[in-house]
Amino acid sequence: MSEQKKFYITTPIYYPSDKLHIGHSYTTVACDALARFKRMQGYDVMFLTGTDEHGQKIEDKAASAGMQPKEYVDQIVATVKDLWKLLDVSYDRFIRTTDDYHMESCQKIFTKLYEQGDIYKGEYVGHYCKPCESFWTDSQLVDGKCPDCGREVYDAHEEAYFFRTGKYADRLLKLYEENPQFIQPESRKNEMIAFIKQGLQDTCVSRTSVKWGIPVPFDPKHTMYVWVDALSNYISALGYGNDTYHDYDKFWPADLHMVGKEILRFHTILWPAMLMALDLPLPKRVFGHGWLLMNGGKMSKSVGNVVDPVILCDRYGVDAIRYFLLREIPFGNDGMFTNEALINRINSDLANDLGNLLSRTVAMCEKYFGGTVAKSISSDPLDAELEQMINALPAKVAEDMDNLTIPQALTEIFAVVQRANKYIDETAPWALAKDPANEGRLSCVLYHLCEALRVCAILLNAYLPSTAPKMMEQLGLSADQLQLDQAAYGLQESYTVHKGDPLFPRIDVAKEIAHLKAEDEKRKAEAEAAQKAKEAKEAAAAKADQPAAVIEHEAEIDFDDFCKVEMRVAEIRACETIKESKKLLHLTVFDGERERCILSGIAKWYSPEDLIGKKVGIVANLAPRPMMKGKYVSEGMIVAADTADGGCTIAFYPDEAPAGSRIH
Ligand code: MSP
Repeated sequence: MSEQKKFYITTPIYYPSDKLHIGHSYTTVACDALARFKRMQGYDVMFLTGTDEHGQKIEDKAASAGMQPKEYVDQIVATVKDLWKLLDVSYDRFIRTTDDYHMESCQKIFTKLYEQGDIYKGEYVGHYCKPCESFWTDSQLVDGKCPDCGREVYDAHEEAYFFRTGKYADRLLKLYEENPQFIQPESRKNEMIAFIKQGLQDTCVSRTSVKWGIPVPFDPKHTMYVWVDALSNYISALGYGNDTYHDYDKFWPADLHMVGKEILRFHTILWPAMLMALDLPLPKRVFGHGWLLMNGGKMSKSVGNVVDPVILCDRYGVDAIRYFLLREIPFGNDGMFTNEALINRINSDLANDLGNLLSRTVAMCEKYFGGTVAKSISSDPLDAELEQMINALPAKVAEDMDNLTIPQALTEIFAVVQRANKYIDETAPWALAKDPANEGRLSCVLYHLCEALRVCAILLNAYLPSTAPKMMEQLGLSADQLQLDQAAYGLQESYTVHKGDPLFPRIDVAKEIAHLKAEDEKRKAEAEAAQKAKEAKEAAAAKADQPAAVIEHEAEIDFDDFCKVEMRVAEIRACETIKESKKLLHLTVFDGERERCILSGIAKWYSPEDLIGKKVGIVANLAPRPMMKGKYVSEGMIVAADTADGGCTIAFYPDEAPAGSRIH
């Protein structure tokens, strides 16, 4: 294969914090159609997808499921792979950021950047949005909230490493100017330019409070910022910095990074700046597509408006869903997902236009010629028009795929389908069949229809990979003949067709909508019932733990005995989860004199970032107690109150109470 004949395309690597939804499927299916089309064009394609598995959000999710992070992501990743199988996604490689080879590459990248001075140690003061895994400065917040998702951020200050993104501002602007294709669509480029021009800050690229991440090799109390870890996947997956793969020289730079618009910034600022620092070639193109919206908002599990692709595929078939995703929304724009729009697309384009063209053509071949029609020469202008449309189609589709106007490519194919249906009405084969003198003409008409269907099947193969072979089967051809160099009128000498099942059964819209509504209500009722049952169970458990009005008192003690309990204010300086325990947090507190270790069973109710920097009451003169088989020695207790639901709550002291002051 020559250098120009390779094509490296990537999806974002998805967070396996929950099962993926139809929004994630949208990106992946678009990449799949592009990858399939490029393969048909003879390119040596590398289609990469995967999962972005580190970070606080995943750690929290795993903890609330009572699992270790790796155990948690393993089961989600299995569902991701199942989903891509279901959706016929033809990826060549699947990367997990927890794979050893990827972590090795990231550590090498980080060390190299540090050693050459592009990463330096400093102090991070700012705000952090957990769901977005993003740091923000004061001026970037919108009404004190995360500018991307509008959720609460929390204050963060800690020792951290920084990447000199700012140093690359001018080179980035020059890159955009000299390579108009680099950021697409064009409209989004201006947002990136504005972002840089407002003053590009260095990027905080390590955390000490996030444990579930790749350790910074030369300072392992830090883990790498998830975006540095994640973006590196595009080269680690090819073997950059590891010995597991060896395709870096062949496939890098990427021809296309396909991403949602919300992460375009990471891909067009941080990522190229990292690559510039590493002195590596830059990706040729980054495309930021729009969102699939539901009820006016971006589909998201935490908002609770997700559409499950598995349910949709079960009900309507995989290719119907792929078609809807690829056809409905102008690629680059946001678009609404509604059941009505989906059903209308299936009915009008797939069942009526495509399905009917095939079933009518096959039925007429069988009825008038026992199934077999041969090629014949014609001089009819109607035929010439159809032939010309068929022959012009491959180049139009190829151009649309190059321009990433994917829905337009489908519109072109369906224009031929519609023209062929109209051709049936215009040539009226049923009328021709009435007079044996027209047999030649009738055969010629049917041959033209078969040719239109064959060429459309070839071109549809990238978008509807299970429908195209079915079309070929009914035309009496094989799936091996779905070759782009065969996509021209007149290449098939004859057809012997076989009638099959309808490609896409027509859906009764009113009935279907009623059914969906009923299903939706049923699901809601089930979810509500489950929630109520859960609450009742929790209430019962809390009640069992704490008999309502009966308070068990300790035996009375005198004042001197009370004074023996030395309680003091202490400042929490560090706090970490403990791998082996879901209950315990490991706190390092300053008691006014020294730092001491306290293990406290509060992990279910507090996460480290809730506590770091806070002042709490401790019992300071408890005899030190070895815990976790002697791995730790706990030197005290945090003062906490039980809550009605069986949890606990900690009172925090204000700044006026210095660490070490006695609590009476
Ligand atoms: N892990 C990061 C990406 C790292 S890439 C080095 C991430 N993951 S994600 O799971 O939150 O989302 C990834 C992508 O899923 C988005 O960029 C977008 O392409 C796609 N989508 C998620 N929700 C979507 C919609 N509602 N609509 C369209 N695409 C959506 O960000």
